[in-house]
Amino acid sequence: MVASKAWEWSNVSDERWRIPSEESYYLRERWEKQGYKNFLDLGCGLGRHSILFAEAGFQVEAFDLSDDGIELLREKAHNLNLPVKISKGDMKELPYEDGIFDCLLAYNVIYHTDTDGIKKVIEEIERVLKPGGEFYLTFLSKNNNSYNDIAYRIDHNTVIKMEEPEIGIPHFYTDLGGIKKLLRNFTIIKINHINEITLNSSKWHFNVHGLKAVQIT
Ligand SMILES: C[S@@+](CC[C@H](N)C(=O)[O-])C[C@H]1O[C@@H](n2cnc3c(N)ncnc32)[C@H](O)[C@@H]1O
Repeated sequence: MVASKAWEWSNVSDERWRIPSEESYYLRERWEKQGYKNFLDLGCGLGRHSILFAEAGFQVEAFDLSDDGIELLREKAHNLNLPVKISKGDMKELPYEDGIFDCLLAYNVIYHTDTDGIKKVIEEIERVLKPGGEFYLTFLSKNNNSYNDIAYRIDHNTVIKMEEPEIGIPHFYTDLGGIKKLLRNFTIIKINHINEITLNSSKWHFNVHGLKAVQIT
């Protein structure tokens, strides 16, 4: 399995990592209505979603491998007087008990590993979610030209990026069939395949909203 590598947030000036994603507002409202309380922001980065959910009264756990990301979030949550619990570690081994989260968001995170790694992360997500709990995950699509960068490919699906701010960070790519296989233990609510275009980039992602079904015995 490839070694994990955190983002160094001190090198990132892009404002979009400080403003919550559009989907997160919809999810917050939906999960509030469903009476969900315990929320995990997996790979929280600077914590834009941790703050959004904490402001609505969710019990927020924020988790990331990045020292400076975590420190910046700690400072922000403290200044806003919001009770965000923050832990550092690798998403392939989460420090939480089984079945404790009602809902989980991992936005542009879980693909920062290789093919074996992402399977492990998904097993961990399944373990920490409650039956009946929901997740929202984003995956990198094989539609991206960067997937064809064979010089830095380390397995059939994974490329190591060599540009700032992601030098040395693994990126796992997939397609619809791959997602269905990876998430076969879950119920899929919706998958969007979208091309996010900004002034200087364009990236295809699969955004997946799903559910850990309650087992009927
Ligand atoms: C693209 S950023 C997204 C941050 C945040 N989810 C957001 O939407 O603003 C990816 C984050 O995943 C974290 N990350 C990468 N590999 C990780 C790992 N193995 N375990 C935990 N976090 C990881 C990085 O440190 C970084 O903060």
